[in-house]
Amino acid sequence: MKAVVLGAAGGIGQPLSLLLKSNPLITELSLYDIVNAPGVAVDLSHIATPAKVEGYLPADDGLKKTLTGANIVVIPAGIPRKPGMTRDDLFKINAGIVRDLATGIAEHAPKAFVLVISNPVNSTVPIVAEVFKNKGVFDPKRLFGVTTLDVVRASTFVSEIIGDRGLATSVTVPVVGGHSGITIVPILSQSSHPLPASLTGDARAALINRIQFGGDEVVKAKDGAGSATLSMAFAGAEFAGKVLRAAKGETGIVAPTYVNLAADSTGAKALSGIIGDLEYFSAPVELGPEGVKKINGLGSLDDSEKKLVEAALGDLKTNIEKGVSFVGSSK
Ligand code: NAD
Ligand code: LMR
Repeated sequence: MKAVVLGAAGGIGQPLSLLLKSNPLITELSLYDIVNAPGVAVDLSHIATPAKVEGYLPADDGLKKTLTGANIVVIPAGIPRKPGMTRDDLFKINAGIVRDLATGIAEHAPKAFVLVISNPVNSTVPIVAEVFKNKGVFDPKRLFGVTTLDVVRASTFVSEIIGDRGLATSVTVPVVGGHSGITIVPILSQSSHPLPASLTGDARAALINRIQFGGDEVVKAKDGAGSATLSMAFAGAEFAGKVLRAAKGETGIVAPTYVNLAADSTGAKALSGIIGDLEYFSAPVELGPEGVKKINGLGSLDDSEKKLVEAALGDLKTNIEKGVSFVGSSK
């Protein structure tokens, strides 16, 4: 398996590349950035794991060399937030970065699984899809917006509330919708571990708010030095590992991820009762050898969760349209 990281010298890119270098399923790791990727690659290449590591800059067909033969491409390239910014404020710069990298993937690795981390994810995933459609190579089963950090945060915060951090690795809570503010919808009623009976009203609302705005907590604490990098690298490596394991034939792997709903028309039809005609949504997805095997429904939601899903739909629609029309207008 050849894995690629685009934006590999950045705050996420470096620790993510380190974690991918530690994944025994990866035999080749190819790193790309506009700065420092060869240095990061040489550093990682001394680690005693099987993956062969190479690093490229844009010069001398670097993107083509990076991508040729790739099975999986992870994209954390682009600028992060500073305090006071929304993820949508990043669109101006990151949309063009993602469009250009997607063009390279469509040309040099059109069959690779593509995992988009760059924000705003709600819009950058549609950007990748539109580029691929224009090149005639779009396969919705192979494109994923990485929302795993929201799932990781939910596990962490819920284990804290239960009062047993030892549970952090086993608690699972589906988080659906999208990846920004109120489009992040934690389904606490489906927590794998029961929440304390006292967690009602304001306390429950505070937990939901913390999961939805966990990114802001990090941006604030970093005070101008960027956003989540280490926890994102953990989450990105976790999700990439699941995609790779499913590609190798492991069954029963389900993870929430932001996908184009054309990836599974039956699943999409079932979802449409609650999300209408949205083209993209993060739902629990069963992964398989071709990527998306099945988009699962949202299960039973309580009334407050139905309201949270409804509240997410407007922003999602606007974010998706923004990504789609960006590619349309840059043709
Ligand atoms: P960073 O600035 O530390 O790193 C970004 C890297 O991208 C830099 O090394 C930069 O040189 C590189 N880059 C810029 N333009 C490029 C191009 N055209 N080609 C290749 N590389 C390019 O930022 P970061 O903290 O690593 O965050 C990266 C992105 O990930 C941001 O958009 C951030 O908002 C997003 N993010 C997403 C999630 C998520 O849950 N999906 C979580 C955290 C951060
Ligand atoms: C996060 O959720 O931490 C990321 O999307 C980065 C951010 O801007 O908050």
